[in-house]
Amino acid sequence: MSMYNFPEPCAPRYKKPRSFEDCLPHARSMICKVTGTERPSIGVATRFHIKKGDQVLIVTVPDQDKYVAEAVKQAILESGAEKVDFIYPQDLVGKDPQHYSVADGWREAELLEEGKASGTATDLLTGLGLGEAAGRYLDEHPEYTIVFLDVAGGNAKRALGKHAEKFGGYFPFNNWEWFLSRAHTFPLELWQAIEKKLVEPLGKAADVRITDPEGTHLEFSLTPEEAKRWEGYAMLHGHLIFSPLHATSGEYREHRPGTLDAPMVFPKVTGVLAGTSNHCGFFPRIETYFDQDRLVDVRGGGEYGDRIRKILDKNKDIQWPGYPERGYFWFCDTALCTSVGAFRRTSDMFDSLWIYPNLLERTRAGVFHLGFGSRASRGEEEFDAYAKEHNLPRGHIHVHNYFATFEVRIQGSRNWYKIVDKGWISAMSDPDIRAIAAKYGLPDKLLSYDWVPPLPGINCDGDYLKDYAPNPMAYLKSRLEKSQTI
Ligand SMILES: [Fe+2]
Repeated sequence: MSMYNFPEPCAPRYKKPRSFEDCLPHARSMICKVTGTERPSIGVATRFHIKKGDQVLIVTVPDQDKYVAEAVKQAILESGAEKVDFIYPQDLVGKDPQHYSVADGWREAELLEEGKASGTATDLLTGLGLGEAAGRYLDEHPEYTIVFLDVAGGNAKRALGKHAEKFGGYFPFNNWEWFLSRAHTFPLELWQAIEKKLVEPLGKAADVRITDPEGTHLEFSLTPEEAKRWEGYAMLHGHLIFSPLHATSGEYREHRPGTLDAPMVFPKVTGVLAGTSNHCGFFPRIETYFDQDRLVDVRGGGEYGDRIRKILDKNKDIQWPGYPERGYFWFCDTALCTSVGAFRRTSDMFDSLWIYPNLLERTRAGVFHLGFGSRASRGEEEFDAYAKEHNLPRGHIHVHNYFATFEVRIQGSRNWYKIVDKGWISAMSDPDIRAIAAKYGLPDKLLSYDWVPPLPGINCDGDYLKDYAPNPMAYLKSRLEKSQTI
């Protein structure tokens, strides 16, 4: 019998490929042949939507696994493409990316100051501007019909400029371990049905509570009209927008005709967001306090906390356009990813060419990444102009929560409904969802997590505040030395 209320640690163990044949079946199962003229909208699920005659360009980094590259090329060619070329940062911007480690979680604050933070940056892979450079490359090589690049964010497509229509999706597959994940072959019908169930209750929410055993406790309330608007914008495949402020921000509304003048929803999030990791990696436990959406206090966090405190203090009198009060950091991100088979990869965690080497752990279903910074209240351009005029970095930074409970009180009722319960997506226990899963395999197997991180005192032996919170990296390294999963 389990000692804890949370599932015990586990992780998939993929075998390093020794030939391109080891990767080929997986590559083939990631191909979706496009027969009509339109490619489907991709969200964050990486599939290769290929049309007959396509000329494919893939932007990758120097540590690209050669067997993965060969297999992807072969599978795309088999599906009717005419050619597949890989291109590297040297060819696009004349230099190689730097090397990063998840030991340096504090770097996420530095990236914000450098203008490379989530929410605004156009190159979340290397920070070198590969998106814009790929756009210029396409000016010279217009024969390419589809381009895969970058690893996340909404700006990769925009970075291609007049070639934006050629954006085919992300390419996070320089790393073999990530490429081999069963996450990328999860049945799309099942995935979308789960997401629909997750988003539906938002439109009826009166009160919302987010709690997590690492110490997060946040609450907010919504009017029926605000809840409806939130639901309307929450669906982003693979990465649901569970922050009403984010969902109703200008970055979304500017793509929807007639909605630009609708006010952004400020849900008055109040409480504490606590944790030990972000997109860059790990740091000593941090507590960030919010009063009516605004960051008001930061405790702990080591270097990450120190840098946030400095930015907070320096910019306390900032008045972002369209915001109700002064203040630089606003609670503007609560994203729920939904990829069931995703995991924390270890093969390159201490030597990665990604500026956000810990980015992909957040894609596992049920893991929340919550964050603070700013979002455009109306159009992006107006907000950018204000930021430039006042020399302010735009974007936001994060804290990950692995075992969060996200619950809503439904309007007109005293019942609280747990959309996510201790990191478990409740929809995966829903009979309708299990019936769909049965079409593709064993529901118990399809609808289970491959990866659960260890948090001592929470889901495995130890004392969270003594053994983990002060130095999560040391704890994770000690497990790796003992060949235990992290
Ligand atoms: Fe974010």
